[in-house]
Amino acid sequence: MNYRDILKKGTSILNENAIFNADYDAELLLSISLKKSREKILLNLEDQLNYNQINNYLNLINRRKKKEPISYITGNKFFWKHEFIINNNVLTPRFETELLVEEIFKIYKYSEDLRILDIGTGSGCILISLLKDKKKWKGDGLDISKFALKIAKTNAKIQQVSNRIKFIKTDIDNFNGSKYDLIVSNPPYINKIEYNNLGLEVKGYEPIEALYGGIDGLKIIEKVIKKSNIILKYNGLLAIEMGLGQHYKVFKLLRENGYYILKVVKDFQNIKRCIIAKKIN
Ligand SMILES: C[S@@+](CC[C@H](N)C(=O)[O-])C[C@H]1O[C@@H](n2cnc3c(N)ncnc32)[C@H](O)[C@@H]1O
Repeated sequence: MNYRDILKKGTSILNENAIFNADYDAELLLSISLKKSREKILLNLEDQLNYNQINNYLNLINRRKKKEPISYITGNKFFWKHEFIINNNVLTPRFETELLVEEIFKIYKYSEDLRILDIGTGSGCILISLLKDKKKWKGDGLDISKFALKIAKTNAKIQQVSNRIKFIKTDIDNFNGSKYDLIVSNPPYINKIEYNNLGLEVKGYEPIEALYGGIDGLKIIEKVIKKSNIILKYNGLLAIEMGLGQHYKVFKLLRENGYYILKVVKDFQNIKRCIIAKKIN
């Protein structure tokens, strides 16, 4: 069987299973299974596959047809400027979360030294991206999941920032760290109704502790706001991501807990997605 025929077969299996962008995914998975670029494959459609190559490819197509996210099949995801290793113990880094990184770089453009805490570090994508660009910044990444921290440590090693990061396995409730200049967090913030309505691609594969934020979605956000007030330096910043329609309640929580709201950042869908707040008492 040649590349053209196997791509036709892969695309048709994915289409039959209602996979969006079936032809793109079929090409991407062939590129991964053959370890060749998509361009090289598309320029050599008459090349033949052997029996093992066909089997490997159909195995990947089979995973995708069951709605497994491409990022878990490939084992990596590009975030900000780097590729991160991921698996189903961590949330797949999202585009929206890059807004947090972008804002932090704007605010701290000229800051040489910074001590950062990343609450719910997951794959480590936020903290590692920050430290990779700013060679003197240091940070701690905490997460309730030891499996997530294993991935974060691997990523820190690959990006050569391990010497400036400490990873801590703890529930945010039990964390008693010392003072930070900046706390960043993309906490789980999906509420019960949204969680129940999530598609199989997310709900069936991504870890529940990375998604579900309690009945109103604000359980962990509230913990992050309260704990950060204790462990942030005076005038330190909290940069937090939130979900659709949560901004009113998050503003209220911030004000009640001694913060001044510096900036709200909207995402590409015009949703208020990130808040930057300053600790003022
Ligand atoms: C939405 S994911 C964010 C992962 C990563 N920072 C990112 O932006 O892609 C939230 C992370 O918070 C962690 N988490 C959930 N509840 C926690 C808690 N109570 N204390 C500490 N970490 C928690 C989860 O294990 C998960 O890795």
